Amino acid sequence: MKAVKALLLENIHPVAQTYLENQGVHVERLDKSLDEAALLARLEGFHLLGIRSKTHLSEAFFEKAQGLLAVGAFCIGTNQIALEAASRRGIAVFNAPFSNTRSVAEMVMAEIIMLARRLGERVIQMNKGQWRKVSTGAHEVRGKTIAIVGYGHIGSQVGVLAEAFGMRVIFYDIATKLPMGNNQAKSSLLDALTEAHYVSLHVPETPLTKGMMGHTQLRAMRQGAYLINASRGSVVDIESLSQALKEGHLAGAAIDVFPEEPAANTSDGFVSPLQNLPNVILTPHIGGSTDEAQVNIGTEVAVALSKYLQFGCTATSVNFPQVDLAFTPGAHRVLNVHKNVPGVLRDVNRIVSEQQANILAQVLATHAEMGYLLMDLDKPVNGNVCDAMKQLPDTLVARALY
Ligand code: NAI
Repeated sequence: MKAVKALLLENIHPVAQTYLENQGVHVERLDKSLDEAALLARLEGFHLLGIRSKTHLSEAFFEKAQGLLAVGAFCIGTNQIALEAASRRGIAVFNAPFSNTRSVAEMVMAEIIMLARRLGERVIQMNKGQWRKVSTGAHEVRGKTIAIVGYGHIGSQVGVLAEAFGMRVIFYDIATKLPMGNNQAKSSLLDALTEAHYVSLHVPETPLTKGMMGHTQLRAMRQGAYLINASRGSVVDIESLSQALKEGHLAGAAIDVFPEEPAANTSDGFVSPLQNLPNVILTPHIGGSTDEAQVNIGTEVAVALSKYLQFGCTATSVNFPQVDLAFTPGAHRVLNVHKNVPGVLRDVNRIVSEQQANILAQVLATHAEMGYLLMDLDKPVNGNVCDAMKQLPDTLVARALY
């Protein structure tokens, strides 16, 4: 990988640079984003591009980005990238969807205790000079029931931590999930809501989850229960929640995500019906924002880019079929990205046999418009196979990896 060059924008954590350099990649790192024209001018000669959320990569960008093999989105979301255009040009995109899982789960646990002890109110009072040593409305969480809605990466971590605090954990998920520890699955959302002292939401934003915690569901929660939402703002009907809190049906809430969130940090632009309510903790979408998560993101994406370059592994790609062929000592690996049309495999196999090489292993997977093929051959092909594959009209990328 000596000749490979990576351009990392937007102050990506230095751990990514170190990792890639240790793999022999030449890395240049900028602390800012570049607009499309400046990026295209700067990108010449680079094979890898690392961005975060501020750099937009449009369809036109991918049409013009010559020589680019892969993009690393050092963040969770990939809305800023024209993924299908990247696929059409044979450019793989990777992100880091689970690097901040633990950060979210830990914040949720902190909020549960804060709500149970009404710590937010005590802090506000102390800062105003008010000393209120009271135990009314303050509780231990031990022995209480928490319902986790959406038992995926974050939800199941919350389940593990909550159980360690002595809580009884129930969960509801539309998919069948293996319960961690003594966590118990419930067969309906209402079953979970009616039993719980605490309800914590960890579902993705989908048509099914939009508004899933509306008036009916909030009123199905126990009198005096608490709601925690660190998933997506569209999941909870904020007006109904505000009403349930004002009327005392719920004893508190911790909300990290909102239907509309400011695009950038602001000192006075955020408005919500949940502001200034007792025992309500509002935070600016920081569930996953920790130093540790940034390090994890830097490492996870750098590893994914490097595994793609070296082995053709696309197991965590967001726009390529996910393929991971086990390493076979003595084998010589070739990668081919092509348009998803009939006959490509036939042509590739013909080229291999013309080179008198034997195929030891072969994996082909397709997405709508593109196909991805990894092949292990029994002899080095000295570029001949790749050169011949590049002549095929439907080949987008052909590379001999080792
Ligand atoms: P995941 O994909 O691992 O888990 C989501 C779970 O929800 C899955 O098990 C899925 O089967 C389940 N689910 C989907 N639709 C459902 C429905 N209608 N009812 C019940 N269960 C349903 O996702 P992960 O990584 O655990 O993330 C969960 C949420 O947390 C996402 O909305 C994500 O955007 C958000 N998030 C928030 C952060 C923050 O800073 N507050 C940071 C990271 C993620």
